[in-house]
Amino acid sequence: MKRTHCCGELTASDVGKDVRLVGWVRSRRDHGGLLFLDLGDRSGIVQLLIDESAHPELKVLATVRCESVVEVAGVVRLRPDETANGKLSTGMVEVAVEGAAILSMADPLPFQIDDASAEKVNDEVRLTYRYLDLRRPRCYGRLLRRHKIAAAARSYLNGNGFLEVELPTLFKTTPEGAREFLVPSRTNPGQFYALAQSPQQYKQMLMVAGVERYYSLARCFRDEDLRADRQPEFTQIDMEMSFVDREDIHSLVEGLMARIWADVLGRELKTPLERVPFREAMERYGSDKPDRRFAMELVDVSSIFTKSGFTIFASAVAGGGVVRAINGKGLASLSQGEMKTLEDGAKSMGAKGLAHIKIEGGQWKSPIGKFLDEETRSQLSAALAIEDGDLILFAAGPWESTCSILGRVRLDCAALLREKGAMVLDENEFDLFWVVDFPLLTFDGEQGRYVATHHPFTAPVDGDLHLLHSDPAAVRGQHYDLVMNGVELGGGSVRIHSPELQKDIFENLLKISADSVERLFGYMIRAFRFGAPPHGGIALGLDRLAAMLSGTTSIRDVIAFPKTQRGTDLMVQSPSQASERQLKELSIALR
Ligand code: AMO
Ligand code: AMP
Repeated sequence: MKRTHCCGELTASDVGKDVRLVGWVRSRRDHGGLLFLDLGDRSGIVQLLIDESAHPELKVLATVRCESVVEVAGVVRLRPDETANGKLSTGMVEVAVEGAAILSMADPLPFQIDDASAEKVNDEVRLTYRYLDLRRPRCYGRLLRRHKIAAAARSYLNGNGFLEVELPTLFKTTPEGAREFLVPSRTNPGQFYALAQSPQQYKQMLMVAGVERYYSLARCFRDEDLRADRQPEFTQIDMEMSFVDREDIHSLVEGLMARIWADVLGRELKTPLERVPFREAMERYGSDKPDRRFAMELVDVSSIFTKSGFTIFASAVAGGGVVRAINGKGLASLSQGEMKTLEDGAKSMGAKGLAHIKIEGGQWKSPIGKFLDEETRSQLSAALAIEDGDLILFAAGPWESTCSILGRVRLDCAALLREKGAMVLDENEFDLFWVVDFPLLTFDGEQGRYVATHHPFTAPVDGDLHLLHSDPAAVRGQHYDLVMNGVELGGGSVRIHSPELQKDIFENLLKISADSVERLFGYMIRAFRFGAPPHGGIALGLDRLAAMLSGTTSIRDVIAFPKTQRGTDLMVQSPSQASERQLKELSIALR
């Protein structure tokens, strides 16, 4: 039997039609002789009316369990006025069933499949029965939205001269990135592929190959500790272009985002997007991916403490460091537990302490109170616009870590204020902008050497090239991040295309031995000697974008079959053990 309509599309204009429907029984109400079923498919639900006295053969439907699959034939009719349901698109009609068949009977359900009930069920149960969870309209809606984003991206990039090219996921191990998943090679005993963390090197080779404009919806694999916005495998809208500068790439991506906003949200995105220098983002918000929907900006109070009796702050400044503060408006009344949460957050970022002042009933209460003379108090009052009820929080130390610590505290304060209902953030407000002018290199104290802030293929800003060897920390990279509401949605850069510069950076700045450079990246430097075009690109995290545009904070919600926090798939039960025979074939012995 072929269906004539989808359940969710029947309206009053279909009244009188003979229809055939298929779907899942979503609910059942037995009114003694009159049976009502809600039949649903991905388009929505419609009410079925079964008159058992007129159709005794339909009695089987009275025992059919929820989520069983049935097909029915019947006539569309208007519901009596008092039973019409204005909230439902099909709420004016019902289908009087004349024939039915049960295609597949469902077992009793592990949980109730409606949004309100299912979201109270624990994640493990839902992930074990993910195919049931996905039947919920909200889950299906998120997959649909993700599909629309991907479709809009493909359509936009196809229309702008891009070629979709699939690139290898079996790549090789490279040291300069996240931890990798290794794949043993059967045909080359003792050797391993690594699953690609991104198609970075291959897409650059496509530029050397003359493709000029590439994109793919690339699967990427990173063996990282998982969080709400991180999965071990995820998808990038990955692209690369030749003969472009930073501004060309920005406007291309802005066009892409505007197209997604229009096609998926039905909204206009105002472009060009703001470009915020890294230093400014850190100075004002203590983050390179600031949530600017609220202020609570960092304030520079270093000069107030240069001659302070509080030696921790005075010596931080004397030693070339800084003192920064934020004003948590209205947070003076926070509990000890909440204060500890703020301190723990700061310490997790490496803070040695988190000095504070509570202003309550005109009193300044603070562990550093005895160091705050009249003049200091009045300077702080002016700098931080202090009022009764405020909580002032301080961090002191080197510039970048101090800003980052307060950036974390700022977010934690905002979370507290939101819990208390004192701050409301609109999830439909999208603050999308670029962060630019990152330092090319970051000094890694543990390794005692510079590492690439993003990846080692990023080109230095032309005007900073002369500082490369004299003052590496001062060199800015031609890198940019696309940021929205405190989340890094994407990142990219103009690349190095000079073989000499690439080699110089590997060997002399990143201190990778010439042998290792040859072994790991030799092919790339060679490729650049055969006519490499200037090129650059970006990768956008599709999962993060889809999550944010679906109003959820977890990318698991927009991935069909996500992994748990421990990296497992509870439905298929992976990872799992391999047989002796498989291991032998791969020349692997387990310890
Ligand atoms: P990057 O490492 O910044 O850049 O990644 C680009 C974007 O991918 C998303 N992303 C993730 N999403 C989910 N789970 C993860 N574990 C995860 N890791 C990253 C983020 C991030 O902004 N090859 C470069 C891009 C380039 O230079 O063109 C790259 O991979 O949204
Ligand atoms: P102490 O004298 O070490 O007990 O510190 C006094 C106050 O200063 C405590 O509230 C500490 O949390 C705080 N504090 C110590 N070091 C720092 C720092 N580097 N930045 C901000 N606050 C600090």
